[in-house]
Amino acid sequence: MQEKYARESYTEMNELVLPNDTNTFGNLMGGRLLYWMDICAAMAAQKHCNNQVVTVSVDNVSFKRSIKLGEVVTIEAQVTRAFNTSVEVRMEIFAQNLPLGTKVKSNEAYYTFVSIDENDRPKAIPKLIPESDKEKTLFAEAMRRRELRLLLAGKLKPENATEIKNLVNLFEHKV
Ligand SMILES: CC(C)(COP(=O)(O)OP(=O)(O)OC[C@H]1O[C@@H](n2cnc3c(N)ncnc32)[C@H](O)[C@@H]1OP(=O)(O)O)[C@@H](O)C(=O)NCCC(=O)NCCS
Repeated sequence: MQEKYARESYTEMNELVLPNDTNTFGNLMGGRLLYWMDICAAMAAQKHCNNQVVTVSVDNVSFKRSIKLGEVVTIEAQVTRAFNTSVEVRMEIFAQNLPLGTKVKSNEAYYTFVSIDENDRPKAIPKLIPESDKEKTLFAEAMRRRELRLLLAGKLKPENATEIKNLVNLFEHKV
C-alpha cells in the first residue's frame, strides 16, 4: 500500500461562534467545540486513509481559555501516525478576533480514528511518513500515547506496554 506524507492530511476548519453555540456566559460551549473538532479530525483521518473512518478514542481535552461569541474558531488537524487500521490525529485550536486581528491558542487534543470497510470492520491503511522535525517528534511520541490509550481501554496488558515501561525506566534512572 502506498505510503503518505503527514502534511497530506492537514485540514483547517473555521467556525464563527454564533449565539446558538454559546452558554449563558456568552462563551462557546465545550460540547460544540468537541463536535467541530471531531469533524475536522475525521476529515484529516479520511485524507490519510482515503476511506471512511469512525472515532474510536478522544484523549483528555482541557479548555485553557474560553472562546467568546463572535470569535472565529480555527481548528488545525493533521495525522501524526498511522498504525495498522487506526490513525492518531493531533489538533490545535485557536480563537480569532477578526476585528482586532488577534489569534490565541485555546487548546490541543488527540483523537484516534479507525478506517472501516463495508462491513464496519477495521481496514488496513497506508503508513505515514513524517518529514519535519516536529512531525518526527509527534510520530515517535504517538506510540507512547497509543499504549496509554489502549491500557486505559483495557485493550493492552501492562506487561506489553513497552514504550511506557521504557519511559518509566528513563525517569527512574534520572532521579
Ligand atoms: C472502531 C471499531 C470498528 C473497532 O473495532 P474493534 O473490534 O475494537 O477492533 P480492534 O480491537 O481490532 O481495533 C481496531 C483498531 O482500533 C484501535 N483501538 C481500539 N480501541 C481503541 C481505543 N480505545 N483507543 C485507541 N485505539 C483503539 C486498535 O488499537 C486497532 O488499531 P490498529 O489496527 O491500528 O492496531 C469498533 O470499536 C466500533 O465500531 N466502535 C464504534 C465507533 C463509533 O461509532 N464511533 C463514533 C462514536 S460516537
